[in-house]
Amino acid sequence: MSKIEVKLGEIPEGKNMTFKWRGKPLFIRHRTEKEIATEEAVEMAVLRDPQHDKDRVANPKWIIVIGVCTHLGCVPIANAGDYGGYYCPCHGSHYDASGRIRKGPAPLNLEVPYYEFPDEDTVIVG
Ligand code: FES
Repeated sequence: MSKIEVKLGEIPEGKNMTFKWRGKPLFIRHRTEKEIATEEAVEMAVLRDPQHDKDRVANPKWIIVIGVCTHLGCVPIANAGDYGGYYCPCHGSHYDASGRIRKGPAPLNLEVPYYEFPDEDTVIVG
C-alpha cells in the first residue's frame, strides 16, 4: 500500500502515535496549543536546518513526519529530548515538536511526507 489513511480522532491531544507506512515508522502527533505557540516562535537563526513551523504543517494541530533519524536512521522516541519533540537514543539527536533537529549529530529535520486532509477527522499520507 502506498497510501495510509488515519482517523485523527484516535490521537488524543499531546500524544504521538506511530504507524507503519512504506516500511517506515510514520509519526502523527496531535500538538497542544502550547506546543504550537512554542514551535511557531522559534527563530530561524537557531536552527541547523532552518524551516519555519508553518512550512512543515498543513494544520498546526498536526505534525506528521517520517520517524527515521536523519543521522543514521534509528527510530526516535516521541515526547522526549531537550526540546519536547523527539529524541534519538542511538547517538543523542534532539528534535523539537515540529520535528526539526535542535541538538546532536543529525544534519536535517525529520522528513515531512506528502499528505492531505480529505475531512476534519482524516489524513491520507502518500
Ligand atoms: Fe539518530 Fe544517530 S541515528 S542520532
